Amino acid sequence: MKDKYILAFETSCDETSVAVLKNGTELLSNIIASQVNSHKRFGGVVPEVASRHHVEQITACIDEALDEAGIVASDLTAVAVTEGPGLVGALLIGIMAAKTFAWAHKLPLIPVNHMAGHLMAAALVDTIEYPAMALLVSGGHTELVYVESEGNYKKIGETRDDAAGEAYDKVGRVMGLTYPSGKEIDELAHKGKDTYAFPRAMMTAADGLEMSFSGLKSAFINLVHNAKQQGKDLVADDLENLAASFQAAVVDVLIEKTKRALEQYPAKTLIVGGGVSANQGLRERLATDMTDIKVILPPLRLCGDNAGMIAAAASVEMEKGNLADLSLNARPSLVFRDM
Ligand code: KG4
Ligand code: ZN
Repeated sequence: MKDKYILAFETSCDETSVAVLKNGTELLSNIIASQVNSHKRFGGVVPEVASRHHVEQITACIDEALDEAGIVASDLTAVAVTEGPGLVGALLIGIMAAKTFAWAHKLPLIPVNHMAGHLMAAALVDTIEYPAMALLVSGGHTELVYVESEGNYKKIGETRDDAAGEAYDKVGRVMGLTYPSGKEIDELAHKGKDTYAFPRAMMTAADGLEMSFSGLKSAFINLVHNAKQQGKDLVADDLENLAASFQAAVVDVLIEKTKRALEQYPAKTLIVGGGVSANQGLRERLATDMTDIKVILPPLRLCGDNAGMIAAAASVEMEKGNLADLSLNARPSLVFRDM
């Protein structure tokens, strides 16, 4: 059978990425131009700055992705692109690039949900056995997705307010860390102990699979501010225990909700994706608590936003014939169907 090559684009947030995937699972290149340094001084992603960077980077990323894969445009089978969710201006750059490339080379265009990408990153490292459950935790999203069979995604639970990564980044600001702070808090947490007993929100049976992290963020900020008013500087004097206590609360909630999800929707594989899945505390708990299910944790380079994961999800859509025409538009609030 003829080899199939997908050229994929991901520009939903602050990484400009282009990848080439061969036959659904063989990642030949995955170029990621990160803009994180441009957003650091603002403490978060500035949409206009992100769009401008995507425009500047995208052409070079395409050339590099094809070069590294050792193929030319005429070898390609299809072009894939993230259609949402994400920042509208940022998404549009990737979509315009993908549409133009597809039109110029007469290739089919595959629209991809960014969250399906995070989930299908798992297929690049292992075989997903269905039904599968996914815990997707990033800076913008925290959700549980049940995948009954390949490509059939159903969101069964999510955060009502802040995403877990967002809480990390906001708490990191109070701790005086640079954005994004998840990795640094994770490292600090490993040197400290859970001494502050932060709240674990929405843990009653009635709360089901819903999550919330904004109360935890407020509890953290209040603790630090109240201590300051009493002359105590917890950030200066007890940073490691603060980090460990915050992380323990986040991880407890994520693990408990994942266990509940698996009780309600038995699955053969648990996929953990999104930037926060790099978290060592979460990985340790998954290793100790999820022993009777196959767990796929993509390596760190595939956990953050990258076009390789978009190509992996696109290859499923291509098999199903889910293509778009040149009227494809950005869908900033794109969601999986709820149950
Ligand atoms: O998936 P991602 O690269 O971008 C999107 O949000 O789509 O995720 C980025 C998020 C940031 O909030 C960052 O602080 C968090 O992932 N993060 C971590 C760790 N590494 C990155 N959070 C906790 N522990 C980590 N080790
Ligand atoms: Zn993401």
